[in-house]
Amino acid sequence: MEKEDILTGEEIESDGVLDSSIRPEKIDEYIGQEDVKENIKVFVEAAKMRGEVLDHVLLYGPPGLGKTTLANIIANELQSNIKTASGPSIEKSGDLAAILSSLEPGDVLFIDEIHRMPRFIEEILYPAMEDFTLDIIIGSEGNTRSIKIDLPPFTLVGATTRAGDLTAPLRDRFGIVCKMQYYTKEELSLIVKRTARVLGMNITSSAADDLAGRSRGTPRIANRLFKRVRDFAIVDQKSEIDKDICDLALKRLKVDQHGLDGTDHELLLAIIKKFNGGPVGIEAIASAIGEETSTIEDVYEPYLMQNGLLKRTSRGRVATVKAYEVLGINHIEESIAE
Ligand SMILES: Nc1ncnc2c1ncn2[C@@H]1O[C@H](COP(=O)(O)OP(=O)(O)O)[C@@H](O)[C@H]1O
Ligand SMILES: [Mg+2]
Repeated sequence: MEKEDILTGEEIESDGVLDSSIRPEKIDEYIGQEDVKENIKVFVEAAKMRGEVLDHVLLYGPPGLGKTTLANIIANELQSNIKTASGPSIEKSGDLAAILSSLEPGDVLFIDEIHRMPRFIEEILYPAMEDFTLDIIIGSEGNTRSIKIDLPPFTLVGATTRAGDLTAPLRDRFGIVCKMQYYTKEELSLIVKRTARVLGMNITSSAADDLAGRSRGTPRIANRLFKRVRDFAIVDQKSEIDKDICDLALKRLKVDQHGLDGTDHELLLAIIKKFNGGPVGIEAIASAIGEETSTIEDVYEPYLMQNGLLKRTSRGRVATVKAYEVLGINHIEESIAE
């Protein structure tokens, strides 16, 4: 299935093979996130020197910033095997018990979207993380008992787009907590150039910078835009991706100079035109533009806020003066008209 949505599309695509090939495997190939990288390097080294497993790691931040990639890199750097699960797919306590009891000493267990694990399942993780034990209840009603099974030492790497949705007891059991930052334009430009190299294409520096500037600080978007632009270059039989091809492709994809796409525009326009610039509640915005509130909160808002286009107040969301400028709407006329 091809997902056309540049922003929300996960890595499952018809050209999914490419995604694994462009994913860096070593920490030194991982561009940006310098603070996180430095910390991880030190902790991995120390764990190896002590001959112990790495403390549990929580990675949090908006989608597409490299959490899954980093989880795999951590396992590589530890020379460990990685087992992967995702919060929503763990539905019964038995699912988690099965995963935990399949672990080998030193394994990395990566649980993506860990905030979406049901609370009663989460509780099984507490003793597993703390003492490497699994408490299971056996028997049936009226005649149950709990038995303790020892687990091998392992490292849990959890990833979440919403650290705030994690319960305190779970959050507190992670010894290493890393907040992923949006990437700078320079870093994204390096990522685009690296992707081009891996896929055997040439790209000019100005084209790479242009793509970087429109990628909302997010490597997944940078790579996805690159792949679409590459399609245009291939069809045009160009051996090199230059700024003209970028402009053409991005115009077709409706991605503007600031990396804002159709949904960002709709969102800001709805606040300005339908709700008088705000403040307006998230539910009202969601229904006005036909998106899930969680998608707006996880995908669209963080970038709009980071760039000073949207503000969150106690009374709701407000479009800033900069948002009016970016959309080419006269702030003063608009307020008088009301
Ligand atoms: N620091 C980085 N350097 C190079 N490429 C990156 C980096 N972070 C992410 N990527 C690329 O971006 C894509 C999305 O990253 P991913 O780890 O899936 O993000 P997340 O799990 O946070 O949603 C990956 O395919 C990877 O190739
Ligand atoms: Mg991921």
